[in-house]
Amino acid sequence: MKTFQETLEFFNQALTDLPLNRKPEALYTPVRYELSLGGKRIRPVLLLMAYQLYRDDMERVLPTALGLEMYHNYTLLHDDVMDKADMRRGKPTVHKVWNENTAILSGDAMLVLAYQLMGQASATHLKEVLDVFTETALEIGEGQQYDMDFEHRMDVSEDEYIEMIRLKTSVLLACALKLGALQADAPATDANQLYCFGENIGLAFQLQDDLLDVYGDPKTFGKNIGGDILEGKKTFMLINALRLANAEQRAALERWLATEAATPETAQEKIAAVSALYDAIGVRQLAETKIRTYFDVAFKHLNAVALPPERKEPLRQLALALFDRQA
Ligand code: IPE
Ligand code: IPE
Ligand code: MG
Ligand code: MG
Ligand code: MG
Repeated sequence: MKTFQETLEFFNQALTDLPLNRKPEALYTPVRYELSLGGKRIRPVLLLMAYQLYRDDMERVLPTALGLEMYHNYTLLHDDVMDKADMRRGKPTVHKVWNENTAILSGDAMLVLAYQLMGQASATHLKEVLDVFTETALEIGEGQQYDMDFEHRMDVSEDEYIEMIRLKTSVLLACALKLGALQADAPATDANQLYCFGENIGLAFQLQDDLLDVYGDPKTFGKNIGGDILEGKKTFMLINALRLANAEQRAALERWLATEAATPETAQEKIAAVSALYDAIGVRQLAETKIRTYFDVAFKHLNAVALPPERKEPLRQLALALFDRQA
């Protein structure tokens, strides 16, 4: 069984070796650009590590690991158009380097390439792999739609938010673990515990992403800070700030949210003002507590996987590393 680091290196080498040299150049250059920007590669690594709980020949499931990362990167191309995000992994986004049409079409190509890679799963597991992946991909689109719908609502509840992030983010981490387990012929109960482990890590992961969007260091985080505030995203912090604000704070929050930031200066002013209200209302700590809770639940599911603790240690270490993430 390989360590987390060895698994990551193995995966990155395979991704570098992936031939993406079809024509026309203008379609595939942005694909290569996005994939070469780095990224944490969490989803394929989760898949490969779940597989290695049971079997050592991880090359066997490499196409599905590549497919998952390809799919994830496709969602990023389209998400950055939808979120008007200019920076990703410390570099300008595809729609900034090229244009929106390029991000749409190269993104589409990546979705198809993802399916092509998924289709290379072994014949014995192919149907199950495609079923799990397809269900997940549909759910992610549903989560992304809720995310956009919520931009125009001021009454989004915390439960609605959690369901939205479960769909847009958690299910892909959960799917990764399940695809690893089922291709290793793990017992169904273990595969389901691993799915729940991923789901809870995923909820914590998106809460962290929302937190880092306000409090992160843009150099390490690789994205512009305050994008969620500018787009009116109903994050855990905004929902709770609206719920816990006193009358004066609530009025200020609503006024800032209704203010269109037309210049970089007004955008910075809006981000600073809303962040200051978050601080005053104390929602950062609330989010941090919630993140810890989801990690605790995740570890309970990992503990319930019927394997000796030493076998599960690399996955536990990966989850612990994610708990402290700043990127
Ligand atoms: C970004 O995912 C999108 C979210 C679900 C928050 P990651 O934070 O895994 O992005 P990369 O692949 O490491 O850049
Ligand atoms: C991302 O949510 C979810 C998907 C890409 C499916 P965000 O919009 O918060 O992700 P970032 O912050 O742009 O990476
Ligand atoms: Mg985004
Ligand atoms: Mg988004
Ligand atoms: Mg985000």
